[in-house]
Formats: sequence, structure tokens, C-alpha cells
Amino acid sequence: MNPRNTVDSGQAAGKIDRCRMVELPEHSDPRGLLTVVEGGKDVDFDIKRAYFIHHVPENVARGAHGHRRLRQLIIAMHGSFEVIVDDGFEKERFVLDHPSRGLYVVPMIWRDMVNFTPDAVGLWLVSEPYDESEYYRDYAEFLRDARASR
Ligand code: TYD
Repeated sequence: MNPRNTVDSGQAAGKIDRCRMVELPEHSDPRGLLTVVEGGKDVDFDIKRAYFIHHVPENVARGAHGHRRLRQLIIAMHGSFEVIVDDGFEKERFVLDHPSRGLYVVPMIWRDMVNFTPDAVGLWLVSEPYDESEYYRDYAEFLRDARASR
């Protein structure tokens, strides 16, 4: 279930509708499963960087930022966690709990990651090298630009 929290229902469909779960191709045989992510095919960007988050303490939230240009695919490789995406008008919560399903996130989305299980390992595949100047860390600044850019 993806409960949707409508912040401003008077607005036309926005960037949040472009954030979606992606089913990744699986190769199954008696030896197990092999899941593939190919840049430009399974995601619409070249994968320039990968990082993973793990050993998140109980009741700790991560994220609390947005990106100006970066696109990404977020995958729970093990365990589970939730990602709340927010385009400045609407919020949507996605549960990530399977290594063959990823959450695709477009630019100009604020995200919070919550409810990590103790065994959770999250993988981020992203379209840009690390560049702190490309982040929004201030929600008010993000909201101003996100609302102006629709
Ligand atoms: P941060 O953005 O706070 O993590 P989260 O995704 O949970 O919001 O990043 C934590 C630290 O790691 C911060 O000091 C920046 C650094 N970092 C890098 O050096 N390279 C990277 O690719 C990323 C994503 C973070």
C-alpha cells in the first residue's frame, strides 16, 4: 500500500508521478536468482556512482535532502526500509523490501528514508558523481524552487 498524502490537491500532476517502482530483470535457475540493472536500459541514465547504506540504528531516519539534477534507483538488497518522496506538492511512501524491485527517483524530489530493519542494506545507483553543491539540504529552499519549477 502506498498511502498518498496530498499537500495541494489543486495542482496538476507533478514530478512525484514520475517516481515509481521498477521491476528488474531476474534470471532464475536452480543455483538461485541473478538480478540485472543496466544503465540506459533498466534505468534511463548512465550509472556514474553506486553507494550503499547499512547498519542503520533503530528509529534513525536518513536522507532529508533533494537533488537538483540527479536521478537514482534505490534498491533494498537485504531487509527493508521506506522512502518518502515529496515533490513540494505531494508526498508518497514506498516500501522497499526486495532486491529485484527498485525505486526510481527523478530530480527535484525531497526524500526521507525511514524504518530501516536492523539487517537492511540499501543500494543507490545514481546518474551523477558526488557533488554537494547539487544537493538541497534546506527544505524551505527546496520547496521554493520545487514549487516555482512546476
Ligand atoms: P548523506 O547525504 O548525509 O547520506 P544520506 O543519503 O543518508 O542522506 O551522506 C553521508 C556522508 O557521506 C556525508 O558526509 C557525505 C558523504 N558522501 C560521500 O562522500 N559520497 C557520496 O557519494 C555520498 C552519497 C555521501
